[in-house]
Amino acid sequence: MSNIITIDGPSGAGKSTIARITAMRLGLAYLDTGAMYRAVTLHCMRAGVKLDDPKAVSATLKGLDLRVELTFDGPMKVFLGSEEVTGKIRTQEVTRNIHYVADVMEVRNHLVEMQRKIGENGDLVTEGRDQGTLVFPRASLKIYMFATPEVRARRRHNELKQRGVDASYEEVLEDVSKRDYLDMGRELGGLRKALDAVELDTSSLSPDEVAESIVKLAKARLKMQTRKIDKSALERARDQIERRSQES
Ligand code: C5P
Repeated sequence: MSNIITIDGPSGAGKSTIARITAMRLGLAYLDTGAMYRAVTLHCMRAGVKLDDPKAVSATLKGLDLRVELTFDGPMKVFLGSEEVTGKIRTQEVTRNIHYVADVMEVRNHLVEMQRKIGENGDLVTEGRDQGTLVFPRASLKIYMFATPEVRARRRHNELKQRGVDASYEEVLEDVSKRDYLDMGRELGGLRKALDAVELDTSSLSPDEVAESIVKLAKARLKMQTRKIDKSALERARDQIERRSQES
């Protein structure tokens, strides 16, 4: 059985950055399941289906040719057919529409099956909303990562300000709360803490500090050795993640 570390939590808790640093430190592949939901959303948008019609959304699965390429030192690559869409799934339009697609049971079943197959083939740090509860209930280590809505909204607000986007903190806070509501209210695959997950509050910790705690827990549980990593690769990954989060 593969070594699987699951990281679940709400948007803006820092999961992507921390999951990637952790994966690099432990020499594990990194699976970004949010990117898979994003790719299916882009596929549906391109097909021009009514997104609020679950039957129409699930019918697009027939023509879906989704492939992901896991990496050890960069973002997961996502393809629709032969086209790489890794960057194209990070638009605000995709982000706004994801909840329609993520609510459709057939979509979730399809992606859960893909994720489990990937997990059968090797050791992973996997990040999402339902990884510890539903997809990998027997994972070696489960993390539930959170920060208060106010902290997550402030981080997001600062990012937007840096990009020159004019949005008030109150608007951003409302947006964060809406996404929490949609993600937590989902019947199948909704955001929940697994009973055996370790809770980590990232409100006042840096990504490196959180990753360090996870690496420690993993080494204790998985009896793993930390891989020696190239510091510049870590810096490059952080820059990429920052750019990516500013785009979405
Ligand atoms: O992680 P990210 O913010 O890219 O995820 C985008 C959206 O995809 C989430 O807000 C959620 O609606 C959906 N998602 C999901 N299950 C997962 C990962 C993401 O429903 N395992």
